[in-house]
Amino acid sequence: MNYKVKDIRLAAQGKRMMEWAERHMPVLAEIRRELAETKPLRGVTVGAALHTEAKTGVLVRTLVAGGARVAITSCNPLSTRDEVAAALAKEGVHVYAWRGESTKDYYSNLNAVLETKPQILIDDGADLITAVHTQRRELLSTIIGASEETTTGVNRLRAMEKEGALSFPVIAVNDSPSKRFFDNRFGTAESTFQAITGMTNTLIAGKRLVVVGYGFVGRGIASRAKGLGAVVTVVETDPIKALEAAMDGFMVASMSEAARWGELFITTTGSFKVIRAEHIRLMKDGAILCNSGHFNVEIDLEGLNRLAVSRREIVDDVQEFRLKNGRRVYLLAEGRLVNLAGKRSLGHPMEIMDMSFALQALSVVHLVRVGRNLAPGVYEVPPEIDRMVAELKLRSMGIKIERPTKEQIEYSASWTFGT
Ligand SMILES: NC(=O)c1ccc[n+]([C@@H]2O[C@H](COP(=O)([O-])OP(=O)(O)OC[C@H]3O[C@@H](n4cnc5c(N)ncnc54)[C@H](O)[C@@H]3O)[C@@H](O)[C@H]2O)c1
Repeated sequence: MNYKVKDIRLAAQGKRMMEWAERHMPVLAEIRRELAETKPLRGVTVGAALHTEAKTGVLVRTLVAGGARVAITSCNPLSTRDEVAAALAKEGVHVYAWRGESTKDYYSNLNAVLETKPQILIDDGADLITAVHTQRRELLSTIIGASEETTTGVNRLRAMEKEGALSFPVIAVNDSPSKRFFDNRFGTAESTFQAITGMTNTLIAGKRLVVVGYGFVGRGIASRAKGLGAVVTVVETDPIKALEAAMDGFMVASMSEAARWGELFITTTGSFKVIRAEHIRLMKDGAILCNSGHFNVEIDLEGLNRLAVSRREIVDDVQEFRLKNGRRVYLLAEGRLVNLAGKRSLGHPMEIMDMSFALQALSVVHLVRVGRNLAPGVYEVPPEIDRMVAELKLRSMGIKIERPTKEQIEYSASWTFGT
């Protein structure tokens, strides 16, 4: 069988979910029309590890329209929408994903995707790329290249590149301006608050909110929180980012200071154990903790469990930990990505993923065209792809932009102009 999903009978609902997403993803629709005519992916197998939900389904359909055979698994055990997984399976895609899969299943599903012998990989977090380099090295020679969706994945890939361990070219979709500015910043911010309020039903206005990390994701969350009326403190390790946060009008503090003060904590660093037992011990009774950065490693779950005398799920996706000091703290979505892993988390808005997945689709086509001529390494999205996606998006929004005059172009290119 070409798939392993929770229940294939959910397919009709999944199909409707993808239709709804398609309506809000005009850039991908435009690319799909073009690929369906030119079929640049004919004969190519694409293996993907992406959140298997409706917006990803639209990307998968775009690749299929371009002639590709696609195999997909999820990049997070809790982010699969079983309806969409079923619908894709019914459309002939190789799908190995279901919500709530165990860690063992997660890795065996990555392997099931690799079993299809893909020539192109699309990854989110670099687990698929790592798996092929560590466990399925015999497949390395057939892989033309890969594209990576997110910051943490790109960091891992750069570490592999530095050690000479990377065996094929990878396009860092994450690093392109039109991904980082819109997806990491605006997409994560909106979806994070959608998820937090959906899980907790608490008010953001007036809340003492701590954002850990002031990169693209952290900046977006901090500014959205301010707009919602929260009082925001930023915790940073980078002095320049910390200064930027201070000049943007936020309070800036160390984690220990912010721990005593905050009521809602959101981690966005891509790093490891940024909130630890030593901080949790200082928190107020009722503090809420969640992560919108990397996997489930930003909040020290071992430390939290060590401090706790009891724990229970108080409402869906909200775990209450009663600490030895008598206080209670609440952890959302088990410390996994709050905007994706909760039962009601919707992930990034469709209009945002339209752009990120347009970059993915065009990067895959680019790799098929030129990937064999590229040395192993991490590459930027070609600037012409980035511009094209931004222009298609603007056009879909009915926005016209100014074009420089010939004289302006000459002026900025010349050092003698007018002298
Ligand atoms: N939830 C989502 O849907 C989603 C979407 C996009 C990216 N991400 C993830 O979010 C994370 C951040 O992405 P980004 O693009 O903002 O990265 P970034 O590199 O721009 O920002 C990370 C920031 O965290 C800071 N930082 C690192 N360690 C810290 C610590 N111990 N305490 C405080 N600050 C610390 C860094 O100095 C940096 O400014 C990554 O793991 C990325 O994969 C999640």
